[in-house]
Amino acid sequence: MMNFLKQRFAKPSKQAYAVVTGAGSGIGRSFALELARRGGSIVCADINLAAAEETVALIEQEGATGFALRCDVGSAEQVQQLAEQAEVLLQHPVTLVINNAGVGLGGKFDELSLDDWQWCMNINLWGVIHGCHYFVPGFKKQGRGAIINVASAASYTAAPEMSAYNVTKAGVRALSETLFAELKRDNIRVNVLCPTLVPTNIIKDGRIPERYSRLANHALMNYALTTSDAVARLTLNRLDKGELYTTPQVDAKLFWIMKRASPDLYARFLGFSYRFVK
Ligand SMILES: NC(=O)c1ccc[n+]([C@@H]2O[C@H](COP(=O)([O-])OP(=O)(O)OC[C@H]3O[C@@H](n4cnc5c(N)ncnc54)[C@H](O)[C@@H]3O)[C@@H](O)[C@H]2O)c1
Repeated sequence: MMNFLKQRFAKPSKQAYAVVTGAGSGIGRSFALELARRGGSIVCADINLAAAEETVALIEQEGATGFALRCDVGSAEQVQQLAEQAEVLLQHPVTLVINNAGVGLGGKFDELSLDDWQWCMNINLWGVIHGCHYFVPGFKKQGRGAIINVASAASYTAAPEMSAYNVTKAGVRALSETLFAELKRDNIRVNVLCPTLVPTNIIKDGRIPERYSRLANHALMNYALTTSDAVARLTLNRLDKGELYTTPQVDAKLFWIMKRASPDLYARFLGFSYRFVK
């Protein structure tokens, strides 16, 4: 009985056996380090193995245990292997998965190729679907578990020249909202992170049109209202409280309120403002 109650009310971010995708940089690295500070053991998965290994070295400096694995989240087979290998490396069933890996894609709708769409959908949306698909059965077996899916404020802001990115993030939010309700009775918590700008490598490494990539990167690195470390801390705290949404910045919250108050007026306002953009 005590064990059941302990499991039911345990904070999922404390002493977690965690898998973080895209852990080699930015928000993923911050999640991995914050989990280490909370006594966790972390499998750092990234398509860039050297970057994941750097994160593990930082985890070890915190006195915690980390493992680096190469994984392309767009490949179902590789995510299945990740789920299997993580349990072996951690010597414990995984208790928390953070589906964070993602890429940036910008440009007018008619500038994007179908290859651009598939690249973005495959990593940002299918990557999260794969993560949920291969980790939820293990959580159900344990009678507990937790998922953080990294969406974006783009999941509801629907800003022009971000069509594919917006679609992937809206999908991640819809999936997370569905799972929050569906998995509650299985004692599996779900949180979806929806930030605006966070200073990371996302623009530098993304497919962003040259005409504004420098400006966008400058804005990202200099005018963001938060840091990746603060975002990771806040999201883990909200997961612990059983909250579904994390909208970390004031502008993320403001857009959320505007969009829900009057979706039609909001879309008209965006269209009107965009007429003044070259
Ligand atoms: N930075 C922002 O302003 C911002 C805002 C909203 C949402 N997000 C989301 O946050 C998440 C993390 O991005 P970030 O800003 O930290 O960017 P980042 O570029 O700093 O980090 C992304 C990491 O994902 C890895 N990655 C890329 N493709 C992968 C794949 N196929 N498989 C596995 N790993 C892969 C990269 O190697 C990198 O280490 C993304 O989902 C992004 O969409 C970022």
